[in-house]
Amino acid sequence: MTARFFDLEATGLRLLEDSRHRAVALRAHGIVPCLALVEVGDDPQSATYVTRKIEDCKKVGIDVQKVVLPQSVTQSELLTQVQMLDADNTVSGILVQLPLPSHLDEDAVIQAISPHKDVDGLHPVNLLSLTASEPSVIPCTVRGIDALLSETGLALDGARVAILGRGTLVGLPASLLLSGQSRNTTVTILHRKSKNLGNILKNSDIIIAAAGSAHLVTPDMVGAGAIVIDVGMSWPEGTLRGDVHPDVAEVAGWMTPPDRSFGVMTRMMLLKTVLDLAEKKAA
Ligand code: GUN
Repeated sequence: MTARFFDLEATGLRLLEDSRHRAVALRAHGIVPCLALVEVGDDPQSATYVTRKIEDCKKVGIDVQKVVLPQSVTQSELLTQVQMLDADNTVSGILVQLPLPSHLDEDAVIQAISPHKDVDGLHPVNLLSLTASEPSVIPCTVRGIDALLSETGLALDGARVAILGRGTLVGLPASLLLSGQSRNTTVTILHRKSKNLGNILKNSDIIIAAAGSAHLVTPDMVGAGAIVIDVGMSWPEGTLRGDVHPDVAEVAGWMTPPDRSFGVMTRMMLLKTVLDLAEKKAA
């Protein structure tokens, strides 16, 4: 078998067009969608991510309020800034770029954002809602994964899903959404202490790799016809590597393109979520 590859670029373009139409419609009703982006410190990777998000917003007609704070900002200064954005009626959603410098408490910052302005979907109220029949805000990367699963046409009810990694941005929320009442799959979360990793993966209908460990998933660990979605990234020897070995394409049914960033899906879902929040506020 040779896997069908998800076309992330084409899907991304379709999503971009869709968001452009929605932003035009909102503006026609006098509502200006606006994303507040908070960047702390001068981490070059975070700066790149933030720049791309601003470019995407511009392309579709979402306003951006960018706030840059120095590496030395205190917890209370950061919280004050977030609370001001939260109280600002012109702001539809707030994103604080993660990771934050180690002296800052990420959980406290995320919880300072009202659930209805939390575009990342990381506020505990939003995380818990992922298990419900109608999740409120799905974190962007997880929303991208969910969209690809829909593209395959596979009935999710009862499917066996293995998630590699339990991080706050992907593994944890993906497990809540997919095992919850809206998606109804059976989820196993795997991490560095998991035993029988290969066996569990092999017996899964869907594999979501979010471990950041280069080529961890090899063809012998994947069942014939499985759907394999790789959002993991690492740079051993300076080259981008996914968690999934390219040869997995010989056994999988569907697969994300090997050793490529999932970023376009995450970024497009961010636009969608900002528009969702702006529309909900207007309703
Ligand atoms: N850093 C890397 N990815 C993300 C994301 O999706 N949201 C936030 N807030 N920070 C990130």
